[in-house]
Amino acid sequence: MFIMSYTLIKDLHDHVDQEVTVAGWMFNKRGSGKIYFLQLRDGSGITQAIVEASSVSSETLAAAEKLTMESSLKATGKVTKHPKQEGVYELQIQSLEIIHLAHPDYPISKKEHGIDFLLDNRHLWLRSSKQWAIQRVRDTIIRATFEYFHANNFVKFDSPILTPNACEGTTELFEMEYFDLGKAYLSQSGQLYLEAAVMSLGRAFDFGPVFRAEKSKTRRHLTEFWMMDAEAAFADYQDNMNTQEALVRAILTKVLTENRSELVILERNIEALEKANQPFIRKTHAEVVKELQAMGSDIKEMDDLGGDDETILMKKYEQPLFVEKYPAPVKAFYMKRDPEDETRVLCSDLLAPEGYGEIIGGSQREDDYDKLLSRIREHKLPEASFQWYLDLRKFGSVPHSGFGYGLERLVTWICGLDHVRESIPFARTPYRLTP
Ligand code: 4AD
Ligand code: MG
Repeated sequence: MFIMSYTLIKDLHDHVDQEVTVAGWMFNKRGSGKIYFLQLRDGSGITQAIVEASSVSSETLAAAEKLTMESSLKATGKVTKHPKQEGVYELQIQSLEIIHLAHPDYPISKKEHGIDFLLDNRHLWLRSSKQWAIQRVRDTIIRATFEYFHANNFVKFDSPILTPNACEGTTELFEMEYFDLGKAYLSQSGQLYLEAAVMSLGRAFDFGPVFRAEKSKTRRHLTEFWMMDAEAAFADYQDNMNTQEALVRAILTKVLTENRSELVILERNIEALEKANQPFIRKTHAEVVKELQAMGSDIKEMDDLGGDDETILMKKYEQPLFVEKYPAPVKAFYMKRDPEDETRVLCSDLLAPEGYGEIIGGSQREDDYDKLLSRIREHKLPEASFQWYLDLRKFGSVPHSGFGYGLERLVTWICGLDHVRESIPFARTPYRLTP
């Protein structure tokens, strides 16, 4: 049977007083004997289905009685408006067909479970309302990203995952033997390849899994996560920040419009998200360090911001904050130096409010052949693997800039989660590889 022959729960409002068939799972049941109230979900939404002994066959009544949590079924009935709740629809069941009677020991119940138990049962936990809502918001963020870029003349480009060199520092690389060609590494970011892309396409973005062998146990780090890199030729680091702000605001606007009910399920403070969707704040690293020192941090003038620094700083702000011009030694080799202060780079990190911290890293790129070569040497990077990257500065080099967001960081902030591990379908950390 074609999937089209079922009515989606989200569309029930279009079928009031009509008979429809929905196909889904039962996630809760109340009642006994004379009447059953079933909670059904089909992926598109949830609805209550009422089975009344007086209006169904004995088979259907027996099916309702037998149904265990998470059993799959087809339910046919008439759609009615909820007697009290505006905008809520119910199904008055005429017949029920059990497709699969679930084993009675479904491991996830309404009671509180520990996080490790839930993560061990991630394949089932994904069915819970909150996890369902998170995946839907994640999908909206991805769609908003594609829409924003395609509306702004960026071309989707596919950077490789198996690479011969590091992009973001050599200490966090997943390494493997690659046939007779020596070592290969899993990509940490598609950025370097995207720089080649924009010399052809002008503006481009990629979107894919990236890997960091970081053994850090924080609520912000995964070993496999999804990054969106964007790059534009003839863009300076100010243009870069403007693009990031427009993108993040387009994402917020779309989630706030399309995912109201998911945000309610997530108990997200919607007002805080609406406040965040106002002009972003911009400060230099030097200013932020002073601010942090005044707040009691022991950060030094030329230090990177630590995770805790980002947290305390961003509890103060309601809008995302660009921290510009970090000291060169704490950032990647490819960033262009600030002509006004050679100890700093033309970069920015975008930090999310409510204590969430870094969601985007970006910079203007070094576009001078000799300077880039000396940086590669300073960082003791294998020169041969970077010949192609240097070539981009040899044949029609142009000023160019770009940035990368961590999808899970965005999802975590927008959904108001405590930890990045719930923002991705199957989290990978140094301590978890299953399911
Ligand atoms: O700041 P990062 O390291 O920047 C880059 O990789 C650049 N090459 C991007 C570019 O300019 N095209 O990483 C970008 C973003 C971070 O801001 C953060 O949101 C996310 O990726 N990120 C992580 N997310 C989850 N787990 C990790 N271990 C992450 N490391 C970075
Ligand atoms: Mg960064």
